[in-house]
Amino acid sequence: MKLSRRAVLAAPVALAACDRFASAEPAPIIVPPLKSIAPCPFGTAVKAMQLDDAEWVALARANVAQLTPEWEMKMEYILAKGLDRPNFDRSDHIAAFAQANGMGLHGHTLIWYAQGEQAFAGLDNAAFDRAFDGYIAALAGRYRGKARSWDVVNEPILDDGSGLRDCHWSRRYGHDGYILRAFEKARIADPEAVLFLNEYNQESVPAKGEQFLRLVERLLKAGCPLQGLGLQSHLWIDIPDGAIARYYGQIAQFGLPIHVSELDCSLRTEKRLDARSQANRIAAQTARVTELADAFMALPARQRYAFTVWGLRDTDSWYRQGDKDDGRDKPLPFDSFGRPNPMAAALANAFRPS
Ligand code: G3I
Repeated sequence: MKLSRRAVLAAPVALAACDRFASAEPAPIIVPPLKSIAPCPFGTAVKAMQLDDAEWVALARANVAQLTPEWEMKMEYILAKGLDRPNFDRSDHIAAFAQANGMGLHGHTLIWYAQGEQAFAGLDNAAFDRAFDGYIAALAGRYRGKARSWDVVNEPILDDGSGLRDCHWSRRYGHDGYILRAFEKARIADPEAVLFLNEYNQESVPAKGEQFLRLVERLLKAGCPLQGLGLQSHLWIDIPDGAIARYYGQIAQFGLPIHVSELDCSLRTEKRLDARSQANRIAAQTARVTELADAFMALPARQRYAFTVWGLRDTDSWYRQGDKDDGRDKPLPFDSFGRPNPMAAALANAFRPS
């Protein structure tokens, strides 16, 4: 039975109303396997240790058609022992699991401002160039024929959108230069993979979204083999109504495949005093996730590359790691027991053919 959009949006608020008066648990949410109704591969981030978690494996096999290594395909893991001792054991394990389970693999990420500085420290220019080119050739080459796509460059733009980040890569090759070089080397290493530029907050920080559009324009004009645009979509519950839809109207104009690459939506906000109930926060989350999924569904089919959540269960989320965890955040489509959250209902309602 298809719930009306209004019913899905109203559900959490209705729950809020009744949770004041009834101690009964809200009715369980039932959704079909998300990969069976998504308009493109439905993916999730994965950590190698989850492949030994039978509950995670069952939930992933039921709902997921593509995997993105959450951290073990990055320099922080692969180059942890130095440039001359790359370690691919866990990225190989994830790639093998994907292959064995008929799932796609999205490589994440070749070049990121946040990692690699220590491994590349002290190299003269010639050695730096050999290491930069060699790393991309080794990693993208290793998964040639296994990874259907790559985040070639991750998060090049400053958080306030005022320009591009300075980093060890830009200091060697220039702000656009390192991005152009990375894409060119990735293209050589894997001529088949779809090559993405991946960023966050384009939909929620207008200046950053604008800077992303300008960067894409410059790269395409320069002949960069940029083939896909990654919108990480770490959504906030307080993104103004309509902002996400408006941005999709802008980003779609390039005609490139779009990857919702890291969807989650924390219930926590930056507000020092936020007295909203859990149910009201979930209602706001449902509205934001519905707007995102509707905007994605409104894209031409050829531009709907993949739709990836940054974890399956709330407790798999980076928001629930370490001392940041308040124990109540529900940023992902399933709860800690693997039961569908309101987010899963919002996604299912948007994905179902109207
Ligand atoms: O599992 C090890 C543990 O054994 C060890 O004791 C501990 C301390 O060293 O580290 C643990 O690994 C951590 C891993 O997350 C798993 O929790 C790594 O240190 C930590 O660096 C890693 O953080 C990841 C982060 O990227 C940096 O790679 C997060 O999981 C991951 O969610 C986050 O993902 C990023 C995307 O790549 C880019 N977009 C933003 C997104 C969220 O920050």
